[in-house]
Amino acid sequence: MGKDTRAIGVFDSGIGGLTAMRELTALLPNEHIIYFGDTGRVPYGTRSRETIIHYSRQNAHFLKSFDVKLLLIACNTASYAALSILQDELDIPVYGVIEDASLRAAELSRSHRIGVIATPATISGHSYRDRLHQLLPDVEVFEQACPLFVPIVEQGRFSPEDPLVQILTEEYLAPMREAKVDTIILGCTHYPLLTDAIAACVPGAALVNSGAEAARAIAAALQNSDLAAPVDQVGTRRYFVSDSTAQFEQNAAMYLRYPLGGSVERIEIESY
Ligand code: DGL
Repeated sequence: MGKDTRAIGVFDSGIGGLTAMRELTALLPNEHIIYFGDTGRVPYGTRSRETIIHYSRQNAHFLKSFDVKLLLIACNTASYAALSILQDELDIPVYGVIEDASLRAAELSRSHRIGVIATPATISGHSYRDRLHQLLPDVEVFEQACPLFVPIVEQGRFSPEDPLVQILTEEYLAPMREAKVDTIILGCTHYPLLTDAIAACVPGAALVNSGAEAARAIAAALQNSDLAAPVDQVGTRRYFVSDSTAQFEQNAAMYLRYPLGGSVERIEIESY
């Protein structure tokens, strides 16, 4: 029986982690959740590993200032660069988004031809490729960095009818179609917003949502755990960003397609 009233902390470089947040709030209505979107420093995926580690540490320290009981790094780029470091440095469970998406893709793929699309940093770390090879020794993994997807999504451009979206999805996804992958890991938490455009480009491929998979894993881990919230607790949500709160609220409305359900405040992340 749960009794831990402390909040769960979640961070991403921007609004992408809201795809995980959406699933977390649906599955865990009793949990308090605090989200930090590093909107002042997005994108992470074109930066060096050292910089991403530095940012991730600051984000984690900020969330730790609320005495969170568990941390979800709802960003593939930060998971690739900093998951093991934060797991070593923090005294709470720390989840990333790469492990559960890999497990799901390995489970879904019949042909064992799997595509991975992600930011340049995540692709350069080959975390998905290496994990998939452990899970399915005969797998063929097709990796594609998509450096322009995060900027267009942060600008609210994700409609499958948008010509810019069509040009970019064709450029990034045509190799997946030609390679006849049957499963594609959306290895960046911003990409689920491009689901319709990606599905139109690679018809029939199963698309794995990394943030949602991690949220489901956390919900399962909390079940019957002392870390879970009391059943009669009504979960609350709070959001923090490192740039404009109005821009975040506007983008989030498009992302979550339901109200954020909590306040949004701006903080100085460089001071953590
Ligand atoms: N949502 C982050 C991820 O999952 C994105 C990255 C970025 O800021 O480039 O990788």
